Amino acid sequence: MRVLLQLWTMTALNNSRRFLIAPTEAGLSEAAALLRRGELVAFPTETVYGLGADATNVEAVLNIFKAKGRPLTDPLIVHVAQATDAESLVELQEEERKVFHTLANAFWPGPLTQIVKASVRIPAPVTANTGFVGIRVPKHRLAKALLERAQVPVAAPSANRFGHVSPTRAEHVLADLAEKHVMVLDGESAESVVPSDPCEFGIESTVVKLERDTKELLIFRQGAVTQSELEDAFRREGITWGIRPVLRTVKMHSTAEPEPSEGATAAPAEPAHETAETPTEPQEGQVAPGQAVTHYAPDIPCFILRGIGDNAAPAEATADRRVFDLSLADVQNKVVLVDFNGQYANWQARVFAYRDLSATGDASEAARGLFDTLRWAEQVAGAQYVLIAPVLHTDDVIAAAKTVTDISLGVADRIYRAASGVSAVVVVR
Ligand code: TXA
Ligand code: MG
Repeated sequence: MRVLLQLWTMTALNNSRRFLIAPTEAGLSEAAALLRRGELVAFPTETVYGLGADATNVEAVLNIFKAKGRPLTDPLIVHVAQATDAESLVELQEEERKVFHTLANAFWPGPLTQIVKASVRIPAPVTANTGFVGIRVPKHRLAKALLERAQVPVAAPSANRFGHVSPTRAEHVLADLAEKHVMVLDGESAESVVPSDPCEFGIESTVVKLERDTKELLIFRQGAVTQSELEDAFRREGITWGIRPVLRTVKMHSTAEPEPSEGATAAPAEPAHETAETPTEPQEGQVAPGQAVTHYAPDIPCFILRGIGDNAAPAEATADRRVFDLSLADVQNKVVLVDFNGQYANWQARVFAYRDLSATGDASEAARGLFDTLRWAEQVAGAQYVLIAPVLHTDDVIAAAKTVTDISLGVADRIYRAASGVSAVVVVR
């Protein structure tokens, strides 16, 4: 049965290869022409692959939502080849303009998205009817080459099925979207005309919103550009705006609850509910649409590992913490362990499958491999739980943002979302 399944998967992958475009001169021109004609083209960036369409073409933009199965309430990021191409897409007031240009000069091309008021050139669905648009100038050479040739601004969310793990390889995109007949510019192709880099950061861009009324920069999503780097950029230009992360205000537990194992003392799953960070803050739906905790989830139940066996301190089950009572045989047959910095290396031989995101505790290495590892984990045949070691030992990301000066905050955020915010303590009988 398993052999048949593997054969079927290989055949499906081979069939889907016809959707790959090699980034030769001809391939890049073809991809650019497809975009101009209103077709969808997925392409690599330095963060993850994006699913692109002409941002000024409403039909094309709506097809992005259809292909991904993404709700229309989740706005899209618009990609341009250079900062000056953004001018006609946004409406900036004087002081805001200075902030926008400061961030553009400091971080573009690169993994930063700036949300500002959209101009009339941007169709409403791109902004999810908010009137605000996220703009990014990617650094990846193929993304840049494609944008230059397309000569249209390109709206692109991550090129995964909605809610699934983001893609960092062309084959990840094919796995999620080939059945939608989406063409994919192959960043891993040996025929590339520009030296092709992989998705060097591996997690999505830092997303900030410029709030001109309160003179604040709100960090909606953590990524490679950190709060301290943003603060440095402001300081250098004498900008006195505040910088504040707003994160994870929606608590929405995964619907993919695992089968409770025998003797498991799991708390009942909480119904989805929203919690504002502070009573004075607007609800998540208004401030950061699309930042639901259930993003980036693998197709099998996933938990942040807070201890297993001898190093599992006694714990009560809560809405956010499961306590699993497993036999050693269960651990051997069902558990995939994704480690970081060898925290659980002594379990390597006793779990079903094991990988370390970075055996040396390097957060950048962990970021680069995270999504590929999550996709690997969900495909380990027979696996029932994915347990992921934490990269940061705190859940208070808002407080941590003040001190963490590398990508580990972004990695912790993606792990938190992959696990729908739920951790696990595993007692081994
Ligand atoms: O690195 C990235 O940002 C990748 C690559 C392809 O550029 N793109 C990406 O897009 O991650 P997406 O759509 O998967 O995630 C963008 C996030 C979404 O959660 C969306 O809700 C938020 O940014 N966002 C985009 N525009 C927004 C806006 N106008 N207002 C509020 N949130 C916005
Ligand atoms: Mg996404």
